[in-house]
Parts: sequence; C-alpha cells; structure tokens
Amino acid sequence: MSFKVPRGTQDILPGESEKWQKIEGIMRHLCHVYRYPELRTPMFESTELFQRGVGDSTDIVQKEMYTFEDRGGRSLTLRPEGTASISRSYVEHKMYGYADQPVKVSYLGPMFRYERSQKGRYRQFVQFGVEAIGSKDPAVDAEVIELAMRVYQEAGLKHLKLVINSLGDKEVRDAHRDALIAHFEPHIGEFCADCQKRLQQNPLRILDCKVDAANPLIEQAPQLTNYLNEESAAYFDQVKKYLDALGIDYVVDPNLVRGLDYYNHTAFEIMSTAEGFGAITTLCGGGRYNGLVEEIGGPESPGIGFGMSIERLLLALEAEEVALNIENDLDLFIVAMDEDAKLKAVELTSSFRVKGIATEIDYAGRKMKAQMKAADRLNAKYVIVLGGSELEEQAANVKNMETGDQEKVPFHDLVNYLLAHK
Ligand code: HAM
Repeated sequence: MSFKVPRGTQDILPGESEKWQKIEGIMRHLCHVYRYPELRTPMFESTELFQRGVGDSTDIVQKEMYTFEDRGGRSLTLRPEGTASISRSYVEHKMYGYADQPVKVSYLGPMFRYERSQKGRYRQFVQFGVEAIGSKDPAVDAEVIELAMRVYQEAGLKHLKLVINSLGDKEVRDAHRDALIAHFEPHIGEFCADCQKRLQQNPLRILDCKVDAANPLIEQAPQLTNYLNEESAAYFDQVKKYLDALGIDYVVDPNLVRGLDYYNHTAFEIMSTAEGFGAITTLCGGGRYNGLVEEIGGPESPGIGFGMSIERLLLALEAEEVALNIENDLDLFIVAMDEDAKLKAVELTSSFRVKGIATEIDYAGRKMKAQMKAADRLNAKYVIVLGGSELEEQAANVKNMETGDQEKVPFHDLVNYLLAHK
C-alpha cells in the first residue's frame, strides 16, 4: 500500500520551505510597517457564516466548500477564505467599539476549496490577507492596494498589472441587476443550468461563469460602470486620486466583478503579466465590503481587504526567474576524528548553538573525508577538525570554506571568533 498527498495539496519540503518563510517574512514585515497586526481565527467555522458572508449563489459556497457534520451534529466548514471569519471575529469581540477605527488586521494560513486542481489552483492553499474594518475613507482603499503591491515588489516581481473597478453601492447594484436580468432572460435557454439558476439569484455571477465564458451575450451585457450613481462615482474618483498620489499605476476594467457576493464600491485584482505564467494570471484579489458586518449581525462597519496565495506568488517568481535571496544558514560543521574528539564536538556544538551559531556534526559514523564532504554539501561557512592534537592544545583551526583561509583559535575563544566572523 502506498500513500500520496490528497489531490490539490502538496508537501513543502526543506529547500522549498525556506522560500515560503522568506515570503512570509516580507508579509510580516510589511504588516508591521503598515500596522496590520495578525488576527488568528479557527480553521473551521459554522457553515452558515460562509453561506451568509461569502454568499449562497457563489461557486465557493455552492461547489467548493469542505463541509462536514461534527459529532454533535453541527455543520462546520473548513474556511475557504478569510474575510467572513475576520468579520465574525470583529463582531464577536465587539471591535466596533474600539476607539481607533478602522480595526486593521492581517492573517496568513491555509484555506480550503474543492476546486478542479491545476497549476496555480489548489484545494489547500496558503492565503495572506489583510482587512481594515470600520472606515469608508477611500484613502484606506489606496493603502490596502499599496500594501498588496508592495508584497510583490519586495519579493522582486516586476511584471504586475493592477486592475480596478467600482461595483457601486446597493442602489447601483440593484439597477444593474435589473438590467442584467432583462438582458439575459430572453436567451437564458442558451446558458448552462447553473446560469439559469443564477439569473434570478444573482445574475452578476453569469458574467464570470466558467462554462459560458465564450457566449457573446456576456461581453454585450450591460456594464455596471454605466449605472454608477453620483456618490459611487465620486467615491471611485477619490480612490483613483489617492492611487495617483501614491504613484500606483492601474487599469480600470469595467468587467472586473469578483467571485464573492460581499463586494461593493472598490474591487481590484493584481495580475502577473510575466510570459509563461500560465492560464491563471490573478495573483491577488480584494475589494470593499460595506454591509458584510451587518449581514452577519454587527453594526454598520464598512470594510476593505485583499487575499493572495503564496503558491501563486512563488509561481510568478518562477515565471520571472527571480531568485529569492536565501541566506546559507549553516555557520559551522565540526569534523570529529575519533570518539574523544566526538565528545568534545558534541559539547562545543551545544555551546555554539546556545549563542545562535548554526552548527552541525556527523551522526552517521563517517570517516573524516566523508565528514568533510558532508560539510561541503551542506555549504557550511566554517569547518573545524577535531583530533588528538586539537584536544591536547585546546585549540583548533577554523577553516573559512569560501576563501580556504585557516586560523588557529583556542577553544575558549571560539564562540567570540565565530560570532565576529559568521
Ligand atoms: P479570492 O479572489 O477568492 O478572494 O482569493 C484571493 C486570492 O487567493 C487569489 O487571488 C489567489 O491568490 C488565492 N487563491 C484563491 N483560490 C486559490 C486556489 N484554489 N489556489 C491557490 N490560490 C488561490 C478572497 O478570498 C477574498 N477573501 C479576498 C478579500 C479579502 N477581499 C476582501 N478582503
């Protein structure tokens, strides 16, 4: 019998996991600078939270959730995204009462969607996201977009495109919805069974249907931009003004609708324009969700945020052939020539590690030559060889593996020497 990881999931092995940590480090640093402390929520929530939050008519809720009943008969769902959970937490902990609004938080962790797995689309993926809840200042929209762009720029990506749109307020969406129904209704027979249901439930979802994408009626559909009222248009202008002030380039795409129900006003996606990136070009998606907090039982608290997966960021780095600057982290390898030397090596290794010097020794009973080879393979910065004469002299040669230089250092000075040189 042999076991494999479940479809759509992956093991991140050492060698690869360093890249993840590097990216996560960039994210954590930026969250510190932009003041988005981490909020950790459970990996599963009550199913109803996502039905109400993400929306009953979305693909996520209809087809992609990992939903199960626990032994107490409760329906629970592995989180497919973070915004609903963060909003729940905002309400549950009465964060709307905090003196400082918006409440700005970030999250980083696995999300689960039962999707057709392919390159860039997984069933378990790691999403980094931020949410700012409790303000409808368009400057917050610009801040959130800037932060998302900064993550990619700091990682070294160059081929990026920011696409923005306004989905307007409720009045705008209702008028657009009526226009969509009038547009599609006479021809709805040509569409897939899902779209036929979507017509009354949420006709906006027809626009991003994967089955009917090629139907010309989709391209000819009434565009939401043409229904923007004065207030929504003014809000969108403000967002653009702030983006201009920040020097952030963008393209306005009236067809950008996003696949979750909670959005209104600002919607945005960041795409990779790198050649060979593959079919799925969206790296990051986000937008404003005024009304979501009320939908799940809280007071009026407008919010905005984004989500991005580390998987897609790494694919974009690969497509642009950007190498992450990952430091060689082994400072020292101690080669021991015999049993007595091994005893000293174990003792020294421990004392070095206490001081933060990354140290490795041989645990495979290898001869000196094989130990030297291992030190080479592991890319150790320094090597110390311990034998009878070193123990006698209480001093050893420290060899710099890059330059080949050696220096004799007494045992009691080794820590200081290594700390000064590593
Ligand atoms: P979303 O567009 O569903 O939005 O996902 C955001 C990002 O998560 C995508 O752009 C992509 O990077 C990543 N992602 C989604 N599904 C997968 C998958 N199957 N495999 C790999 N990566 C994936 C949301 O999730 C919203 N909660 C974003 C948001 C936060 N809006 C406001 N605040």
